[in-house]
Amino acid sequence: MGKKKLGKYAAAKELANIIAPNVIDHQTSEFEATWDPHFFGNSNPVTLELGCGKGEFTVTLARKYPQRNFIGVDIKSDRMLMGARKATEEGLDNLCFVRLRIECLAAYFPENMFSEGFITFPDPHASSTNGKRRLTSGRFLALYKQVFVPGSRLHLKTDSTILYDYSRESIGEHAFNLITATDNLYGAPGEFGEITDIQTTYEKRYLSRSKTIKYILFSL
Ligand SMILES: C[S@@+](CC[C@H](N)C(=O)[O-])C[C@H]1O[C@@H](n2cnc3c(N)ncnc32)[C@H](O)[C@@H]1O
Repeated sequence: MGKKKLGKYAAAKELANIIAPNVIDHQTSEFEATWDPHFFGNSNPVTLELGCGKGEFTVTLARKYPQRNFIGVDIKSDRMLMGARKATEEGLDNLCFVRLRIECLAAYFPENMFSEGFITFPDPHASSTNGKRRLTSGRFLALYKQVFVPGSRLHLKTDSTILYDYSRESIGEHAFNLITATDNLYGAPGEFGEITDIQTTYEKRYLSRSKTIKYILFSL
């Protein structure tokens, strides 16, 4: 690992709003300590951003909705550092970032913890033959069912036609409810609100390359 990245990991450890749970057993996803239910000190609803990168959604929404809590999850704490620093500077205490593999969601968080989710520009795993690693595959949808309150809404944004088509199919196949979908978010009629107002690092990159952004809203 490069010096710069090591420095970022060290800095992440210093911030109270980045949690890096210790895994005791990688095979069983056993953690030294699981999620502390008293972390936010209130029982406000919690929104989860999956694969949050620099945490643009998490920080923007936390700023906008002080009566809700927000958690961004990513495996790379050096990326989350940017969002965590911004939140600290602004004194936002209704958010945190957790360094966690999404595969371990249900081992770390309790059942029915989240009431809304954002999956923003996940790796499409375009060459995958069965799509098992995609964040909308049956395996991941089953995990979401454990940690989200029934009926929760999940938003997926992607530039990938492969992931978009796959996700629509997977959502239907696993009996989740497709609320809306468009293969051209910024060319679609109608008002999509927040989902178009907040653009992540990856989204900005894809838009600058004239890529078309796709969007799916579904419920569990
Ligand atoms: C393409 S980036 C998108 C980041 C951000 N959502 C954005 O739109 O700018 C995908 C992110 O997902 C994270 N990621 C990929 N697989 C993951 C996994 N299994 N568990 C946790 N994070 C994961 C990566 O570390 C990366 O930050």
